Amino acid sequence: MNNPTSSLVLLFFLLIFTCICEITAKVDKADSKLYIVYLGHKPHDDHELITDSHHDILGQVAGSKEEAKKVMVYSYRHGFSGFAAKLTDSQAKQIGELPGVIRVIQNPLYKTHTSRSWDFLGLSKSDPNNINLLNKTNQGDGVIIGVLDSGIWGDSEAFNDNGLGPIPSRWKASCKSEGNFNATKHCNRKIIGTRWYIKGLMEEKRLNQTMVEKIYNLSPLDDTGHGTHVAYTAAGSYVNNVEYYGLNMGTVRGGAPLARLAIYKVCWKDNVTESHCGGADILAGIDDAIKDGVDILSVSLGGGGGPNFAEVNVESLLGIGSFHAVSHGIPVVAAGGNSGPDSNTIGNTSPWVINVAASNSDREIVTPLILGNNKTILGQGLFKGNEQAFAPLITFANITSHDQIQFIANEVKGKVLMLFFQKEEDMVISLSKLRATGVLAFIVVTRPLAQITDYNQTVFRVPIPFISVDLEQGNQIFDYFAQCESNNQDPTIKLGRPEVREGNKIVLQVPRFSSRGPNSFAPEILKVNI
Ligand SMILES: *[C@@H]1O[C@H](CO)[C@@H](O)[C@H](O)[C@H]1NC(C)=O
Ligand SMILES: *[C@@H]1O[C@H](CO)[C@@H](O)[C@H](O)[C@H]1NC(C)=O
Ligand SMILES: *[C@@H]1O[C@H](CO)[C@@H](O)[C@H](O)[C@H]1NC(C)=O
Ligand SMILES: *[C@@H]1O[C@H](CO)[C@@H](O)[C@H](O)[C@H]1NC(C)=O
Ligand SMILES: *[C@@H]1O[C@H](CO)[C@@H](O)[C@H](O)[C@H]1NC(C)=O
Ligand SMILES: *[C@@H]1O[C@H](CO)[C@@H](O)[C@H](O)[C@H]1NC(C)=O
Repeated sequence: MNNPTSSLVLLFFLLIFTCICEITAKVDKADSKLYIVYLGHKPHDDHELITDSHHDILGQVAGSKEEAKKVMVYSYRHGFSGFAAKLTDSQAKQIGELPGVIRVIQNPLYKTHTSRSWDFLGLSKSDPNNINLLNKTNQGDGVIIGVLDSGIWGDSEAFNDNGLGPIPSRWKASCKSEGNFNATKHCNRKIIGTRWYIKGLMEEKRLNQTMVEKIYNLSPLDDTGHGTHVAYTAAGSYVNNVEYYGLNMGTVRGGAPLARLAIYKVCWKDNVTESHCGGADILAGIDDAIKDGVDILSVSLGGGGGPNFAEVNVESLLGIGSFHAVSHGIPVVAAGGNSGPDSNTIGNTSPWVINVAASNSDREIVTPLILGNNKTILGQGLFKGNEQAFAPLITFANITSHDQIQFIANEVKGKVLMLFFQKEEDMVISLSKLRATGVLAFIVVTRPLAQITDYNQTVFRVPIPFISVDLEQGNQIFDYFAQCESNNQDPTIKLGRPEVREGNKIVLQVPRFSSRGPNSFAPEILKVNI
């Protein structure tokens, strides 16, 4: 290297190298995406040192440690080691080849998925058949449940802290005022921790601070209701005499009414789309939850019905995060997803995650349908108000899809209309087409447990009573209608007051919308498969 020629060659190469670097550096800003660089178990407990080592690794492709600090979005260092950073595709590739880097994954977006249930499952204080699990576990007293979701609406009787002792001293985090989340109103001995994470989503949507502040509610307060629902299901307090559209639903509670709640808001709703949860933000939430000292994690999020992967899916951030939580002794409970009814639609297939599906229970809200011959049929669904008067009944066996609705629109005014549909979308579209016709009520014949949730939403949006019946019930109503027609009588029907029924023997079913197993890549992992 002493001879001048090789020095010149070296200089030349250095120059070219610097130039390329400059060009890449310019491209960086525009073409960078958020990547998660996963490094496995954390090597030791010195968190500062771990973050410093992350800057070193990132510095190798970002050009310098200073530049690394600028493009790093999160440093994960409590439950595991890794970081999220803004990288170009080629930088991501380079960093993937560095020693110690296990995997580089582009930031994915997740969606949110997801009383009587607990008594039905035998988790009750009074059930004579139960194994006394609720009592044996002290109703969850002393347990801290971490919920990764859309935040919490804390100012509610549902999260009262009656009967709860002081916050466990081992708890390392806190619940504090931020934005429109008011600690005085929203925090207590039930809701003991709140944190929120949006930097990953911000990168994904390419929003600056001004825009993020304008679009999102930057506080732990729940904008969608999903997080509050999930938190209540897990650890809601006892609330007596709950009314739901005028019906007394009795006492409601969560599964572990004395457990505490720690809220990690990772899902965000803007004014247009459904809520989204950034993978990098979810990982940051899990990393903190492990540090804070949660005992169990509830994660009702998923990728949304895409293909699932091998049993140990190296690309699944939820899989990676939950693996480290579980290896710290924190069980992770996740939703199977709402992409049913086909098989292989289950999400969150990692074997270390506990999956939950939806099911019916032995409580239903029924509306009695009283026919003119006094025969009563119990339909599903509710409407606000008291028993109605007898009204004309009309039905059409030949209308089975929404594009035929125009033929009957003039005939349904002041009548209760029953229709048989093959497809659910026909039901929803038909209802909206008939909204202005003056139809009195709508009975739809459908498969049991099809899309219960959508039906309810439709009921509440449209102020027309809406009741669903199964095929057998539908045929009974139709027989009555046909009999009247042939006897030249006017068929009539009356809607009784909706009521809550409990404790009947039922066939347990997973509703249509709930995702099914098995894992398509590793069918020996059944997961939720009933
Ligand atoms: C469970 O405990 C409650 C009080 O904590 C008590 O009233 C109830 O009888 C117990 N139930 C059973 C089945 O032991
Ligand atoms: C927070 O709530 C308390 C109690 O309702 C109220 O007195 C206080 O003014 C609220 N603080 C803010 C900043 O809104
Ligand atoms: C933030 O982004 C918006 C929309 O892209 C832009 O109009 C605005 O100038 C940006 N603000 C800053 C401070 O960069
Ligand atoms: C949503 O918010 C953004 C930012 O404030 C605004 O530009 C947009 O018009 C809003 N969209 C709707 C549908 O309200
Ligand atoms: C239906 O019941 C009412 C009251 O119980 C009775 O007055 C009426 O005659 C009955 N109608 C038929 C068709 O049985
Ligand atoms: C359906 O049948 C009725 C008679 O029950 C008839 O009047 C009507 O034209 C038929 N409608 C269609 C769309 O076929």
